[in-house]
Amino acid sequence: MNYSIETNSLEALKSDCLIVGVYNNQQLSPAAHVLNQHTNDLLSTIMVRGDIAGKLNDTLFLNVIPNCSVERILLVGLGEQKPLTTKNYRKALTVAINAVKKLRLKSIAVSLTECDVENADLTWKTRQIVEVFDDAIYQFTVCKTKSADEITLANVVITVATHQANHAKIGLAQGQAIAAGVNLTKHLADLPANICTPTYLAQQALTMAGEFDAIDATILEVSDMEQLGMGSFLAVARGSRQPAKLITLEYHGGDKNSKPIVLIGKGLTFDAGGISLKQAAGMDEMKYDMCGGAAVLGTLHAAAQLKLPLNIVGLIPASENMPDGYANKPGDILTSMSGKTIEVLNTDAEGRLILCDTLTYAQRFQPEVVIDLATLTGAVLVALGRIPSGLLGNDDVLCNDLIKASEIANDSVWRLPLWEEYQEQLKSNFADLANIGGKDAGTITAACFLANFAENFRWAHLDIAGTAWRTGSAKGATGRPVPLLTQYLLNRANNAEH
Ligand code: BES
Ligand code: MN
Ligand code: ZN
Repeated sequence: MNYSIETNSLEALKSDCLIVGVYNNQQLSPAAHVLNQHTNDLLSTIMVRGDIAGKLNDTLFLNVIPNCSVERILLVGLGEQKPLTTKNYRKALTVAINAVKKLRLKSIAVSLTECDVENADLTWKTRQIVEVFDDAIYQFTVCKTKSADEITLANVVITVATHQANHAKIGLAQGQAIAAGVNLTKHLADLPANICTPTYLAQQALTMAGEFDAIDATILEVSDMEQLGMGSFLAVARGSRQPAKLITLEYHGGDKNSKPIVLIGKGLTFDAGGISLKQAAGMDEMKYDMCGGAAVLGTLHAAAQLKLPLNIVGLIPASENMPDGYANKPGDILTSMSGKTIEVLNTDAEGRLILCDTLTYAQRFQPEVVIDLATLTGAVLVALGRIPSGLLGNDDVLCNDLIKASEIANDSVWRLPLWEEYQEQLKSNFADLANIGGKDAGTITAACFLANFAENFRWAHLDIAGTAWRTGSAKGATGRPVPLLTQYLLNRANNAEH
């Protein structure tokens, strides 16, 4: 989708459809007021008739507008005439795009940045249009031979006042970068596991490195990982015919000597559970077990597109978890790269086994901070549902920075405790650590397991099993937490400049 900023007056605007807001009690927004004056009171007449009440979620589509260069108008209800909450602003945008996206229009224009939104500036309001619209029009079509309901929309014009154009342009650039990262993440995650293998993910990383001068990609093969002693990661990979890869992406946007922010994403391209096999129902959704890895690719893409003045390293351990003859067995004891031994009590707790060696590996980049993102536990769905990602970490400043970023990005997180008392649950009679901590507090004990490999740096963990994809009729990836991470990076970039 092509987005642009328009500062010309509304009466001169040419578009297939202009989206304008109306409030409760027949109150017109400024844009609606301008159109009303140029259409012989068309809009106020419609409001007085009561054809649209102006409540949030209301829409009214006007197909013919006499004497107007705008061909159609979509009225969107904004509720009471007062500043909208950020959530309601996004809701109004979602309702608007959903009302027009299947109408076979080529261009639309949006005037909704003129709405007052609590704690939001024009940059943010502009950016949300791009993020919300791109999310709504995303379709996964590459595996369908018949293209149903094709979306024809190609151009979105965002109208703003002339003196605001610069702020809008910043928001536009941020929105486009985040949306491109989200789209890439969703696409990779929606691909089936027979296409999106560890090798495929590695190729994606190499392609991205070709696309951006500031990004380098390196792929470690199984033999390289053997030399590094990644006994935990490789034990998971052994159960599959697909060769595992450890993908490294390095984005050099910052000062040569500034320490990198390391992002680690679980890239489990299919999680059958291994010998501790999962049940059949819903197992197809385990193709999404690489959403963390896909989000690392998406976030680096966004950072590179925005040319952020930071150094960022992305690490993606990519593997399948399958029940082959060589697979991990319950009771097996592994030696991780750190030297710590691990008793595998459940082969389905494989995410932490591939992440722990990657955390150890991350140390060689002398990280400023390390953030891992992983579809790690079903327990996070029990604890938090599908609204926030679970956040755990060993550093309050880092966790608070992520919380702050999540609020701006509308990509929420909720922090859970990582207290040492929980480490008790990971004790093993035979090895240094067990890979599961029993039925209580599954998300916390999974993070506690990882904490044993993150002792030497500031670290945070995002459990995205509830937020990375939608289930049911809207089954598909969400692209989260790319908006959160990109916002975190934007904040860090701004602080670095001051
Ligand atoms: N990939 C799963 C976690 C998961 C479950 C993600 C449901 C999304 C939806 C992970 O590898 C896993 O299987 N975890 C186990 C851990 C258990 C064996 C301690 C789980 O959550 O059941
Ligand atoms: Mn598993
Ligand atoms: Zn898994």
